[in-house]
Amino acid sequence: MPDTILGQPIDRIDGKAKVTGAARYAGDRRAEHPAFGVIVTSTVGRGTINKVDIKEAQAAPGVVLVMSHENAPAQAPFKHAGDRHARPKPQLNGARVHYYGEPVALVVADTFEQATAAARLVRVSYQTEMGAYDLAGNRRFAYTPAELVQGKPDSSLGDFDKGFAQGAQTVDATYTTPYQSHNPMELVASLAQWDGDRLTVHCATQLVDAAHHSIASTLRIPLENVEVISEFIGGGFGGKLPIYGDAILAALAARQLKRPVKVTLTRQQMFSVTTHRAATIQRVRLAAGTDGKLTAIAHEVMSQSARMDEFVESAAASTRSMYAAPNRLTRHRVVPLDMPVSDSMRAPGDAVGQLAIEQAMDELAYKLDLDPVELRLRNEPTEDPEKHVPYSTRKLVECLKRGAAEFGWDKRPSVPGTLKDGQWLVGFGVAAAIRGNYRRPATARVRMDENRHVTVEMDMTDIGTGSYTIFAQVAADALGVPIGQVTVKLGDSSYPQTPGSGGSFGAASCAPAVHDACMEIKKKLDAGQGPGNLQAEVKSAPGEEFKKFSQYSYGAHFAEVGVDTSTGEARLRRMLGVFDAGRIYNSKTARSQLVGGMIWGVGSALHENAVVDQRYGLFVNHDLAGYHVPVHADVPAVDAIMLAGFDGKSNEMGSKGVGELGICGAGAAVANAIYNACGVRIRDYPITPDKVLRGLMRPANLAQQR
Ligand code: MOS
Repeated sequence: MPDTILGQPIDRIDGKAKVTGAARYAGDRRAEHPAFGVIVTSTVGRGTINKVDIKEAQAAPGVVLVMSHENAPAQAPFKHAGDRHARPKPQLNGARVHYYGEPVALVVADTFEQATAAARLVRVSYQTEMGAYDLAGNRRFAYTPAELVQGKPDSSLGDFDKGFAQGAQTVDATYTTPYQSHNPMELVASLAQWDGDRLTVHCATQLVDAAHHSIASTLRIPLENVEVISEFIGGGFGGKLPIYGDAILAALAARQLKRPVKVTLTRQQMFSVTTHRAATIQRVRLAAGTDGKLTAIAHEVMSQSARMDEFVESAAASTRSMYAAPNRLTRHRVVPLDMPVSDSMRAPGDAVGQLAIEQAMDELAYKLDLDPVELRLRNEPTEDPEKHVPYSTRKLVECLKRGAAEFGWDKRPSVPGTLKDGQWLVGFGVAAAIRGNYRRPATARVRMDENRHVTVEMDMTDIGTGSYTIFAQVAADALGVPIGQVTVKLGDSSYPQTPGSGGSFGAASCAPAVHDACMEIKKKLDAGQGPGNLQAEVKSAPGEEFKKFSQYSYGAHFAEVGVDTSTGEARLRRMLGVFDAGRIYNSKTARSQLVGGMIWGVGSALHENAVVDQRYGLFVNHDLAGYHVPVHADVPAVDAIMLAGFDGKSNEMGSKGVGELGICGAGAAVANAIYNACGVRIRDYPITPDKVLRGLMRPANLAQQR
């Protein structure tokens, strides 16, 4: 046994509560004499509400309140600037309709069923306007956003055109990625309850502190009068970074009715009331000499943004740090559409950016007649090529080499269409992964009682990632107590402030705070002060290391795919990812994150697609029957290896972000395997059978299949 519990594959300490139903999610919360709210959403994509006729709904059995913009209480106005998740989120605050499926009314009744029935009786009439719903068709309206999370929207270095002209081989290809929908298992839900002028909201949020600010500012009440509780969360993925209408409307209705109100989105409403991943059009241009060294890289991104609220899908941001090349260009443009609000979804930017750039690298490898692993190795930079600073740690080469060896990459058919297994053509694909590493200030409070029982408190959340477990491990390790002697309390705005779960920064931000607070306790113990009623509250924050060093986590994906030559169906046969995420706090929960991300990558390559009805601007397949995600049969034998590592520049504990790393590049490995299998290159994700079949029917490919 190693002498530390850190890194060990400890089972989730909240696992039993979850599988026995003891864990209470926001929608499970009970209250005395509750009322239930159901949201009514718009049925036009753009326009103005003429009239909301609530007479019939109001008269329906059990109905206690019907709210629309005509009678909703005044709230703070929407703000475009500032922390996007802490902003006011006013609801039903005007007659304008910004997108199809926007909340336009709330019906509250004694039971959920009564509210659901009465919601159908609300009659809304509209002055409908022509909306813009097509990304490609509206590209002439694209504009340059002011900034990205990662810096400027554009970057350039050297002379791209000259560098591109120097290439012995070039790729100039456009890749498109579709809308993806946020639909974790747990629906977005809120239970709001007032006690005098004090409000408690149980809601499903990744960011308790931001939700706290957002709710208090919307209702224009002091922060200290609001408590936000998000103890268990059934999946976040970025879809629970913001709060939504359920939280605000529940709070407004509960105040008016002097009674607790619960509002839960329906599964179908999840597709429009929450955010989504924006569709993108990405042009990638690569040029390389016969030696396989890139002379030029360009990655230009166009993505959808809601007209009402800008969001930039920063798909080319990591391209700035990925491969060496003297001449470089990245650009981000957004196209405002009358669509629901796009926002972060697991590895925003990186996930879709690498669907493009990592497929382009594969295309270049074939043109150069070079192994695609080798092409990547030849373009490994010695420092960040655009920031001109060293990497904190970067083990991409090791990820590629280890993965190639473990996967049996040497058995890859070098000529597409040559490896057969019955009706299947079989191929291997590789793609690299890069994901920005972030850290934010966090405060932890640790207490130790006379029995040496340790309690950790933070407003951090566990969105299924394993936060409860890893912070217990950190505390047990620091204080030298068994993990059973540690209680971790998260998800309450009355606890010390953290950044919450987002951007893969949760563990790297909070673990050092827990560790430091434990060290304070230890100091007190050493000074003979305890045990018993010892308490320490410590804030931990990043320093200059994020300016002085280029910080990313890395990986390499290897996929084996079969393509059915008669149907065009592509099926994953096996997949391996090797990852560099610094120190791993728990090899079981971290592996689950990575494998989960890889599976989403497979879904991005083959399945997921929220289809827009171009006439009305709605997501047509807005349910889990029509919106496809991988099921078990789609993802056999997916495995992840984590390289041993420690990144002291990321934080004192040595970890880097892991939650969003697995999805990065994963789908490109599948796309590349499809090409290797059958010689069909599909640049329009997802790679569905109809697209592959069209490729298989081209004469050159037909010849292969005989
Ligand atoms: Mo993440 S997409 O910042 O939860």
